[in-house]
Amino acid sequence: VGSLNIHTQLERAMAEYLGTEDAIVFPMGFATNALNMAALVGKGCCILSDELNHSSLVLGSRLTGATIKIFKHNNPADLEAKLREAIVYGQARTRRPFTKILIVHVMRQPDAPQVEGVYSMEGSIVRLPEIIALKKRYQAYLYLDEAHSIGALGASGRGVVDYYGCDPRDVDVLMGTFTKSFGGAGGYIAGSSRLVQHVRQSSHSAIYGASMPAPVAAQILTALSILLGRAGPPDEGKRRLRQLSVNAQYMRARLHQLGLIVYGDRDSPVVPFMIFMPGKVAAFARLSLAHGLGIVVVGYPATPIIEARARICLSAAHSLDMIDRSVQVIDKLSRLLRIRYSRRQPPDWTRDRTRAWAEAQLAEFSRPLAPTHVASSANGVALIGA
Ligand SMILES: Cc1ncc(COP(=O)(O)O)c(C=O)c1O
Repeated sequence: VGSLNIHTQLERAMAEYLGTEDAIVFPMGFATNALNMAALVGKGCCILSDELNHSSLVLGSRLTGATIKIFKHNNPADLEAKLREAIVYGQARTRRPFTKILIVHVMRQPDAPQVEGVYSMEGSIVRLPEIIALKKRYQAYLYLDEAHSIGALGASGRGVVDYYGCDPRDVDVLMGTFTKSFGGAGGYIAGSSRLVQHVRQSSHSAIYGASMPAPVAAQILTALSILLGRAGPPDEGKRRLRQLSVNAQYMRARLHQLGLIVYGDRDSPVVPFMIFMPGKVAAFARLSLAHGLGIVVVGYPATPIIEARARICLSAAHSLDMIDRSVQVIDKLSRLLRIRYSRRQPPDWTRDRTRAWAEAQLAEFSRPLAPTHVASSANGVALIGA
């Protein structure tokens, strides 16, 4: 309904980028999850859902009418236990086997609570190879939400599948959004032609919803062409990915060194640090703004009431100077508001992430960064005032 050539072009480009047979795009990321899952599973099926899945996945799962079982965040052992339980006991009352078992996982949950100090590369990047092995062993299907990793993680920005060097065909349903790295709006579902054809013909969103506005599709195609090195200078996509990765590691290291409790894994461009006390959240945000730093703070109901935090969303358009200036403000305010809660030494890797390290990483790219918003990684980008 309302499909134009540009939608077909975008779908082909996404399939090519992701290494899948086909892809379909939708005008809203949230609705891509919420309205398409019912086309894939229904009554008599079982959904195994990560406990920290995004609310679009929670709503989408509930709309399917399938039995929903929750497994511990990013925990393959618990997932396996729940898979076995689903297979052994089957459906409630009748005990008939489930028709299908679908594992639903968000690729990255950058503010997933983690015990401070058990900080490592693997910290909050989903354990994809293990989850793929489980889904194969138990003949389940895998639905992966790459909202936070597509265009931001992996050597060529193809998300967590790229990061681990997995085969995209091992993920039955690859989902992602265009709101973050692509600076656009909407979402996609990619996978086999059979899957995409089925979604196209039976999803409420595809049948009853209007298509993505053409200018948005054009914007995403441009961002994609830059990432693929087909628009702009040949290494522009690579440069943006490198800048994003350097920004994330440099900023994260500096915050750790201030004594803040920082969540998420080392490479995540979404950098949350804990404020905890609800009363300090607004004070931190307002004082930051007064110092020229616009910073996103998150509290209840998006987090448990005593787990308020600041969420810095780094972009490839941030320079190292901007990061240094932000850290100066955070340094001053975190002291003033007494939010340096960490009692541990900063992780070892932070020692090497100096300004000199960051500059060396970027040395091969000498041109100034064009202002296009391609490789940021979240809805909010921390902005620095003049
Ligand atoms: C994991 C995840 N999935 C889906 C969405 C929904 O995407 P959109 O904001 O593009 O509607 C979000 C949004 O933040 C998200 O974080």
